[in-house]
Amino acid sequence: MITNAEFVISNTDVNKCPKDKKPEYAFIGRSNVGKSSLINMLTNNKHLAKTSSKPGKTQLINHFIINNEWYLVDLPGYGYAKTSKTLRAGFSKIIQDYIQKREELTSLFVLVDSRHEPQKIDLEFMEWLGENGIPFSIIFTKMDKLNKTKRTENIENYKTKLFETWEQLPPLFLTSSAKAEGKTELVNYIEEINKSL
Ligand code: GTP
Ligand code: MG
Repeated sequence: MITNAEFVISNTDVNKCPKDKKPEYAFIGRSNVGKSSLINMLTNNKHLAKTSSKPGKTQLINHFIINNEWYLVDLPGYGYAKTSKTLRAGFSKIIQDYIQKREELTSLFVLVDSRHEPQKIDLEFMEWLGENGIPFSIIFTKMDKLNKTKRTENIENYKTKLFETWEQLPPLFLTSSAKAEGKTELVNYIEEINKSL
């Protein structure tokens, strides 16, 4: 259970992130997918991470300390800048450095908007993670925007798409920050990992 959550620091430089070696869990995904909102939902604090209806709100690596034991990390989104024609160009150095260098990164969650067809940039990003040996989970966001039929349809469609590339599916979480859906599952998942460390 999350009983305490506090903002610690924002950084552009991975080397300046907290040095106390606590395990951390990071949220990544396209701009506007709902990374910051998810942090607020999990911590029960609407004002902890800054959110916006306009993409590109989060530009820094943001550390939030949870229960004084572990970190949630809010990352900038990818795929927004107009220059980002290809993944590697669009996908900022901040993100690459953080993912490749941050030893405390215990588990990475790729957020995907549940309303849309699988997007090329997300699939390419996951492939890049695979190439770099970074395990990840997928979090579907904004599930409240789908009716029952669409929920099943879109998730099944996404799984089918993933099976074109991956032999095994990563852990999948269905969430809505508006309705606090998926909160228990996500927090339990993280707490189980923390116990195993
Ligand atoms: P960047 O920081 O720009 O990369 O975006 P982000 O991924 O942090 O997205 P953010 O949390 O700022 O949310 C973007 C918009 O989506 C905001 O208007 C949120 O209110 C909305 N939103 C986020 N999660 C949900 C959700 O679960 N349901 C609904 N209905 N809206 C959501
Ligand atoms: Mg954000």
